[in-house]
Amino acid sequence: MENFEKLKEDIKSLLSSVSSLKELQKVKVKYLGNKGIIKDLLKRIKEIPPQERREYGKRVNELKEFAEKLIKEKENQLKNLELKEKLKKEWVDLTVPPVRTVGSLHPITVTLDRIVTIFKSMGFEVEEGPEVEREDYNFDMLNIPKEHPARDMQDTFYVNKEGYLLRTHTSPVQIRTMLKKKPPIQMIAPGKVYRRDDDPTHSPMFHQVEGLVVNEYVNLRHMKYVIEEFLKHFFETDLPVRFRTSYFPFTEPSAEVDIGCVICNQKGCRVCKNTGWLEVMGCGMVHPKVLENCGIDTDFYQGFAFGVGVERLAMLLFGIDNIKLFYENDLRFIKQFF
Ligand code: PHE
Repeated sequence: MENFEKLKEDIKSLLSSVSSLKELQKVKVKYLGNKGIIKDLLKRIKEIPPQERREYGKRVNELKEFAEKLIKEKENQLKNLELKEKLKKEWVDLTVPPVRTVGSLHPITVTLDRIVTIFKSMGFEVEEGPEVEREDYNFDMLNIPKEHPARDMQDTFYVNKEGYLLRTHTSPVQIRTMLKKKPPIQMIAPGKVYRRDDDPTHSPMFHQVEGLVVNEYVNLRHMKYVIEEFLKHFFETDLPVRFRTSYFPFTEPSAEVDIGCVICNQKGCRVCKNTGWLEVMGCGMVHPKVLENCGIDTDFYQGFAFGVGVERLAMLLFGIDNIKLFYENDLRFIKQFF
């Protein structure tokens, strides 16, 4: 019988050395578990002389309640401690004033806004088209049939839906606009385009702004005037502009537009490869076949179109020498523009 007092003392001293819930669980199993000391004592009731069994049972129950109570107390104590510890670790000072981070516009956005504003001031409307485009709008309707070598000029990303691709230029928006609206048309279409190209001056995704004017009287001189005006406003100087004959399947005649190198003022540098000139856009009179494809009567109407490379203009405007900087999202770079 005196063993019970000893057992109580054992529990007490054991619990005083417990410092975690995991350790406590071990003590709990040792005393209150299915194969624990107290279960064992209850089983042994058969070995006790009958007249003492009542008293023995009472003592075992008492011990059980004693153990349960002490273990519960210890458990609460440990849980409290754990909570305090957690609160201490996760403490935040709610009285600290918030850090004010002021956002800034991405240089491509700044450049696009600048281009759009200039053309709007000249009476152009803004049109949009999807980036996942119909293959016939991107190529066939623009006088680039399947198997035509001109398709190789723009290495294409195809998508796994028959007849669709990632548009390789903004020119399909010309088609969309002419199918939707009757002339006179005077629009620009800014947006993302995709090509399988990747080096310091080419990115698989980049931006263009398309331009299209269709009416009864437009000719090459109008096109030349609009493009020269645009470039002078964009660079805010009266810079030299030259038109070089070129080839695009959807324009005839076609030209590429060069500006006098803004980096070296035409003295010759790495950027202009010592030529003094930089190519900034393509343009031309809309090919009659393209107008016909869109149901526009070529006896009455003519058009001109152009396509500007936005990254190219942004690099020249801000003096950036690697196209990849636009897409790395390094805040130190991006924050220089607003
Ligand atoms: N779509 C042509 C390109 O991406 C540019 C262009 C547009 C040329 C309109 C002429 C007229 O290369």
